[in-house]
Amino acid sequence: MALIFHHNLVALLLVLFITNQLGSFVIAQDDIDLSKGASYIFGDSLASGGNPTGRYTNGRTIGDIVGEELGQPHYAVPFLAPNTTGNTILYGVNYASGGGGIMNATGRIFVNRLSMDIQVDYFNITRKEIDKLLGASKAREYLQKKSIFSITIGSNDFLNNYLLPVISMGARISETPDSFVDDMLNHLRAQLTRLYQLDARKFIVGNVGPIGCIPYQKTINQLKEDECVSLPNKLALQYNARLKDLLQELNENLPGATFVHANVYDLVMELITNYAKYGFTTASRACCGNGGQFAGIIPCGPSSSMCSDRDKHVFWDPYHPSEAANVIIAKQLLDGDSRYISPMNLRQLRDL
Ligand SMILES: *[C@@H]1O[C@H](CO)[C@@H](O)[C@H](O)[C@H]1NC(C)=O
Ligand SMILES: *[C@@H]1O[C@H](CO)[C@@H](O)[C@H](O)[C@H]1NC(C)=O
Ligand SMILES: *[C@@H]1O[C@H](CO)[C@@H](O)[C@H](O)[C@H]1NC(C)=O
Repeated sequence: MALIFHHNLVALLLVLFITNQLGSFVIAQDDIDLSKGASYIFGDSLASGGNPTGRYTNGRTIGDIVGEELGQPHYAVPFLAPNTTGNTILYGVNYASGGGGIMNATGRIFVNRLSMDIQVDYFNITRKEIDKLLGASKAREYLQKKSIFSITIGSNDFLNNYLLPVISMGARISETPDSFVDDMLNHLRAQLTRLYQLDARKFIVGNVGPIGCIPYQKTINQLKEDECVSLPNKLALQYNARLKDLLQELNENLPGATFVHANVYDLVMELITNYAKYGFTTASRACCGNGGQFAGIIPCGPSSSMCSDRDKHVFWDPYHPSEAANVIIAKQLLDGDSRYISPMNLRQLRDL
C-alpha cells in the first residue's frame, strides 16, 4: 500500500555497501568475504525491497541501483524472510515496512506495518546474531566501519497519520503541526541514538519528499497539472528544517558518528518541476493506478491500467517514483553535491 517518496532513497542509502578498504574481514571457515560491507535499511515503502514487504516501484529501488554501482554482490535481505539467517545477515538486512512511520500510531489502517521502534528492536536481534557470527570485537568493528545505516521515514507520519481524514481527526485537533513535528523529531532522536548504541556509525537519513505533489494528493484535491497541495508540502518543509538541525546536533553529540542528510525533497521537486529536461512526459500522472485525472486514487494492482511508456513517468504509482526517476535520484545521492546530500555523498561516506 501507499507509502511515500523516498522509498527508494532509503533503500539506496542502506544498500550502500561499503566497498572500501581493508579486505581483512574474511571468515576463514566459511569463506565469507565481508570486504564490501553491509547495508542495514530502515523506513517505509520507499525503502522496502523484496518480500515480505513488497516492492513499490516498477523496477529497481534506489538502493538496488546504488548497490549495483558500488559493486555489491547482494541486495540487503528482508528481516522477516525465512531464509534471512546465518551469514546472509552480514551482507545487510532490510527492515523497512510499507506503511511504517516514526510514530507507532502511523499506518494503523495497514495490518502489517512495522513502526520504526519495532524495526530498531529487530536490528537489536540481528546485532546479537552478528556477535555470534563474528565475535564481539570484530562485530563491533564491522558495524562501525563497514556498515551503512539508511533511514527513510516520515512521509507516512503525515500522509497516513496526521493528514488522514477522520481517523486522525483527534490527533489533528489536539496537536498543532508544531507539536506533532516536535514529537516526531524527539522520537527519531531516540531511535537513531538506539542504533548508535548498537554500534551504528555511518548513517544516511532522508528527509520527507514533496508529498503534496504526489498523484494521490493531486487527484483527491482535484488540482491542475502544475499545482501541488500546499499543506502537505508545508508540513514536510517544517519537518525537514528541524530534521537538518537534529542531524547536525547528533553529529556534534555522538562521538565517531556521521549522519548524512539526503535532501529528497529538493531532489524530487527538481524532477517534478523540470521533468521534460530529464526526458519525462509527465510528473503528475501515475503510470500504474486508477481514478481521477492523474490515476491517483486506486493503488497499483493486478487490475490497474498501465501507461505505455513507464520510463516517461516520474511516478510509477500514486505514491512512488518510477525506476527511471530512481536512477536519477540514486546518482545524486551517490555522487552529488551539498545541494542534495551533505555533509558528504554516499561514496564518500562509504570510504570514510
Ligand atoms: C531467499 O528466498 C527468496 C525466495 O525464496 C529468494 O528469492 C532469495 O534469493 C533467497 N535469498 C537468499 C539470500 O538465499
Ligand atoms: C511504541 O511502542 C513501544 C512499545 O510497544 C514503546 O516502547 C515506544 O515508546 C512507542 N513509541 C512511540 C513513538 O510511541
Ligand atoms: C537490546 O536488547 C537488550 C536485551 O536483549 C536490551 O537490554 C537492550 O537495551 C537493547 N538495546 C537497545 C538499544 O534497544
